[in-house]
Amino acid sequence: MWWEGGAVGYIDQRLLPHRFESATASTVTQVAEAITGMAVRGAPTIGVMAAYGIALATTTGESLSDAYDTLLSTRPTAVNLKVGLDTVMAAGPDVGDKPDAAAILGAARMHDNSEVTAARDIGRHGAKLLAHGSRVLTHCNAGWMAAQDWGTATSPIYTGAREGMNPFVWVSETRPRLQGARITAWEMVNEGIDHRLIADSAGAQLMRQRKVDIVITGADRIAANGDTANKIGTYSHALAARANGIPFYIATPLTTFDTDTPDGESIPIEERDEDEMVFVEGLTDTGEIQRVRVAPLETKVVNPAFDVTPATLITGFITEVGVIPATPDAIADVFRHPIRW
Ligand code: MRU
Repeated sequence: MWWEGGAVGYIDQRLLPHRFESATASTVTQVAEAITGMAVRGAPTIGVMAAYGIALATTTGESLSDAYDTLLSTRPTAVNLKVGLDTVMAAGPDVGDKPDAAAILGAARMHDNSEVTAARDIGRHGAKLLAHGSRVLTHCNAGWMAAQDWGTATSPIYTGAREGMNPFVWVSETRPRLQGARITAWEMVNEGIDHRLIADSAGAQLMRQRKVDIVITGADRIAANGDTANKIGTYSHALAARANGIPFYIATPLTTFDTDTPDGESIPIEERDEDEMVFVEGLTDTGEIQRVRVAPLETKVVNPAFDVTPATLITGFITEVGVIPATPDAIADVFRHPIRW
């Protein structure tokens, strides 16, 4: 997304891959609705969007602390949301009785730029883990749409492709919202990367058949001990990877680490609307986007949006400062001495 003429512009991800449309949010409420409604999604992206939401509050005259609370309550799991908000709130001391709008917008822009740079650097470090023709399995969308410009899990793939490594990608469809089928597959088409869409449950079989060389996903919150929350279904891929001796990496900027959360048990897991499970949405033969019901009217649903992969199943974190082992000591060390990595 981007700041343009005193408003936040964004691509409406709910319409992909069938329509590419942008929209603008000019109030904090509109920013919050774009995040809760999933028009804008993906951990680093919602952190940047929320940061620009605070900048918007300075132009509309809304109270900054109300704006902070509204935006923080949009989604509970991705800690990047809080990081984006805290970064801009710390930057704008009041001038007289008003917040310093220029300083706040400057901080939002800096946060945006630093997420772009982090995503780029994740690609640089992550591409070293790929060999020529590596077959990468990824889950959900941790790409352009989820993290400014390069994505996180996709950044090593995009970097490797530009270096002539010819990566191949297994795109896990990611029920129930299908971020893999709808957004990651669309990115792969646009990047010209050879890929196949698979059912989420096909990952384990492909790993058993030695058709996957490496699994790379993104993350929404990494606890101090390395336990990692990401899109529901990530844990199953990690278990299958371990059972088959395949490396399982999380590609993530440092803004996704939450050293105040001790372990995965303490990470809040978002529970989403049952409509996401009982309806499927897509393009009809006549070119309209429509949804159809797939489960009986009487059936009740449980729809956790994220799961937690224990640190013991994670080979390492591909970050902007290098590849970090998934141990509490390594995580603590990177926040003490980021340069060393
Ligand atoms: O519910 P979503 O679509 O916002 O979930 C997104 C994910 O789980 C991504 O894998 C995660 O945010 C990392 S994005 C770089």
